[in-house]
Amino acid sequence: MNPDRLVIALANRKGGTGKTTTAVNLSAEWGNQGYRTLLIDLDTQGHAAIGVGCRETRQLSGAVHQLYQNPELSLMEIVQPTVLENVWLAPADTDFQQQELNVHRLRSAIEKIDPDEQFQRIVIDTPPTLDGLLISGLVAAQGVVVPFVPHHLAEVGTRQLAKLFYQVSSRHNPDLKLLGLLPIMYDRHIKLHQRVVSGIEKQFGKDRMLRGIRNNIKVAEAFEKGLPICTYAPRSAGNMDYHLMALELESFLVLDRG
Ligand SMILES: Nc1ncnc2c1ncn2[C@@H]1O[C@H](COP(=O)(O)OP(=O)(O)OP(=O)(O)O)[C@@H](O)[C@H]1O
Ligand SMILES: [Mg+2]
Repeated sequence: MNPDRLVIALANRKGGTGKTTTAVNLSAEWGNQGYRTLLIDLDTQGHAAIGVGCRETRQLSGAVHQLYQNPELSLMEIVQPTVLENVWLAPADTDFQQQELNVHRLRSAIEKIDPDEQFQRIVIDTPPTLDGLLISGLVAAQGVVVPFVPHHLAEVGTRQLAKLFYQVSSRHNPDLKLLGLLPIMYDRHIKLHQRVVSGIEKQFGKDRMLRGIRNNIKVAEAFEKGLPICTYAPRSAGNMDYHLMALELESFLVLDRG
């Protein structure tokens, strides 16, 4: 992985697994650590903008999906500041509908960012649908984090994502790494959660499993208010979990580099 510019995608073929929530809170953690961070919203639902307080302004300066329609457009032309320190947003175009797209376009747009404007951390929020946008996010990324809710269908969802992951890494992006699996709304005392997490560990390896994020209403409230959990409820369980998750992810990154 490139230590000067780390690109991570949050992905899961299943909807509602905490991809966007994690993208926002991980961006906030990295921003707080002093990294110049870019949050790219590839999901045409456009929810990431809400989470970083850009509800009103999100499409004024253009959207990341226009990159696929206009080969001349540069990523920096559509990047806008957010309420988070050191965090910028490349917002989604909620009207975007394109069947066929160049899945290498986002990667080349990231590679073309001027060194003076460079981001040290890039977080890509991807859609749950299997389409060119999700593939394009995986082509652009160096590492993938898979948030999942430890319920019955989680194993199916992660298996589907793993299949796509291997297709993308063999066809387009041989350096792509499955960085971590992140249980969301996780209670380690619930038997169903234990069973699902250990099933997924068997599939991908125990060393890929992050400690997880508890079910905490403050996390959902923070998102609605357009703030990261570290600002909205710094003493909450949700903030503690996201803070520890960012530190744990850092240790996974060190292992992958080593
Ligand atoms: N730790 C948590 N505790 C409580 N609620 C949470 C937690 N994490 C996420 N949520 C809530 O779960 C819902 C789904 O989260 P989110 O939108 O991040 O999922 P997603 O994977 O991005 O969904 P989609 O597939 O539609 O893009 C949201 O309402 C969010 O506020
Ligand atoms: Mg989402």
